[in-house]
Amino acid sequence: MKIAMGNDHAGVEMKNQIMAYLQQKGHEILNVGNDDPLDRQDDYPVYGEKAAKLVAGGQADCGILICGTGVGISLAANKVPGIRAAVCSEPYSAKLSRQHNNTNMLAFGARVIGVELAKMIVDEWLNAEFEGGRHQRRVDMIMEIERNGHLASAE
Ligand code: RB5
Repeated sequence: MKIAMGNDHAGVEMKNQIMAYLQQKGHEILNVGNDDPLDRQDDYPVYGEKAAKLVAGGQADCGILICGTGVGISLAANKVPGIRAAVCSEPYSAKLSRQHNNTNMLAFGARVIGVELAKMIVDEWLNAEFEGGRHQRRVDMIMEIERNGHLASAE
């Protein structure tokens, strides 16, 4: 798979470890994150947007975002039309975020979880598939809010 990766200074070390882990498994990484952990003036929205645009534009199959908590960078990515990014600190939510919510980006915090847990989360997320069915309707509703600013069914 082609996987976009974005991170700020807080996520550099973890990004490097996850990137190596995924490359070892044969994935291609499009790294648009910061590579300087000392650059504390960088802003996570820059990297969230870059990675999200690769996913939304189809240049990447999916994306992984890392900042201190995973929150800021996922919020930024979710502002790019077509993106459904979820912050996950354990594998269960990561798997379900794919199966039920059809997430196309996964985020986590380098200051929240360790790298071995991050690898487990990434594996569960990448191996899970969207189940469609009743979940499709709900994902469609999320995208309707993005498109129209509201749900027609709620009017
Ligand atoms: C940077 O210090 C930190 O705010 C950022 O990495 C992230 O945790 C924001 O959500």
